[in-house]
Amino acid sequence: MPSEDLSGQTGDQSPMPPSHDASDGSGGWGAAWATPPAPPDGADDPYEAEATRLRERMVARLRASGALRDAAVERAMLRVPRHRFLPGHTLAEAYDNVAITTNWERGAPVSSVSQPEIIAVMLQQLRIEPGMRALEVGAGSGYNAALLAELVGPTGSVISLEIDAALAEAAGARLLAAGYPPERARVIAGDGWRGWPAGAPYDRIELTVGAMDISPAWFGQLAEEGALVAPLWLGATDVSVALRKRAGALVSESWTLCGFVRLRGEGAGETGVARLSEQVTLTGPNAQALAEPISALLATRPRRIWWGPRDANFVQYLALASGRVLSLWQANGRHGRKARGRFLLYLEDADGPSMVIFPQRAPALLAFGGSGAERFIREQSEAHRQRGAPSIEHWRLVARPLPTDPAALASLPPAAPGATRLTTAHWVYEISAGE
Ligand SMILES: C[S@@+](CC[C@H](N)C(=O)[O-])C[C@H]1O[C@@H](n2cnc3c(N)ncnc32)[C@H](O)[C@@H]1O
Repeated sequence: MPSEDLSGQTGDQSPMPPSHDASDGSGGWGAAWATPPAPPDGADDPYEAEATRLRERMVARLRASGALRDAAVERAMLRVPRHRFLPGHTLAEAYDNVAITTNWERGAPVSSVSQPEIIAVMLQQLRIEPGMRALEVGAGSGYNAALLAELVGPTGSVISLEIDAALAEAAGARLLAAGYPPERARVIAGDGWRGWPAGAPYDRIELTVGAMDISPAWFGQLAEEGALVAPLWLGATDVSVALRKRAGALVSESWTLCGFVRLRGEGAGETGVARLSEQVTLTGPNAQALAEPISALLATRPRRIWWGPRDANFVQYLALASGRVLSLWQANGRHGRKARGRFLLYLEDADGPSMVIFPQRAPALLAFGGSGAERFIREQSEAHRQRGAPSIEHWRLVARPLPTDPAALASLPPAAPGATRLTTAHWVYEISAGE
């Protein structure tokens, strides 16, 4: 699991500079083979034999941790040579349970090969069957497209969209070299926000990139009873949600916390990023407007408040219920490519501005300014407890297309008691604590 993620989530990245610096080699056997010899197929090739051994170990570890439970996904992960999609990386890096960032833009990661654990979890959320038609948004290296190709089998098909034309070309070439020709896994350069209507309807759509919203095109191109699995930004972090298309709506079947690089292009949405200094970045709702008051509070002396063990579910609940949770990123490490992230809640009330920071591990909160933020968090914590402190896996989300007619929008019935309603550019999400 990434060591510096915000909420205990697995993923490919946190929303800002990531926890894993791909240049940190781990030495040993992997280092010795940093530049792979010619493409191997012979069973007696020691490089391939070692790759197979490390791949089997990776799969065994995922199984032992409980992340990998499905026999078909396990077979696919054993078959697809992950290292061939990570040229320039050691075998040890390729088969470690970490995400590997491959491309950066202005200090932020824009492409990575995701952590094996979240790959396995999301493929299981998809519940793919042989013969299905699958669409992936975010081809990246092509590794996940190869896994999808294994799962749909020779009678199914995979289309994978990649916004970066150079990455798309490289992914297509790697897939071909690894034994997945375009009939099995076709990579197309283009903005995945529009999907790929020529291949629709799809039985499954998987996003391997974090989205702020669900594209109407994905909904339109998904078959009735088909499933969309996507890391959606819900308040404080991405949540990988499996959504079934049913009777004009998308209904959640499973959730898991994660962290992904952001979708680019037409559907990128509002990211809310403000730089507080060379090293410190603020992300989240109203980040730019709050940069000044938050900087002022950070310059004051905090009070430590006993809180207890970190609870990712509560932070996510708080973010959804309040819409006020932001993340603070402190860059460090070589090239400033590592960052420590923390959640914070800021508010202004009669006592003036106040803020609480959730520390990464210590069982104490840091409170700045007045007492309003602390009071608010205690009230929300009590409300969360009274609802049985449901873990995120038990929450339920129903997404319905946002009515375009203002009258229909105004006459939406109120959210069910205890449910949180979020309205995005295209959807009305109703989130409840599950049944
Ligand atoms: C986490 S990586 C995907 C990892 C990939 N599935 C793999 O197995 O290597 C996310 C990818 O999504 C791509 N991406 C971002 N926005 C996109 C968009 N609008 N359409 C298609 N691809 C996009 C990025 O360029 C990046 O390569």
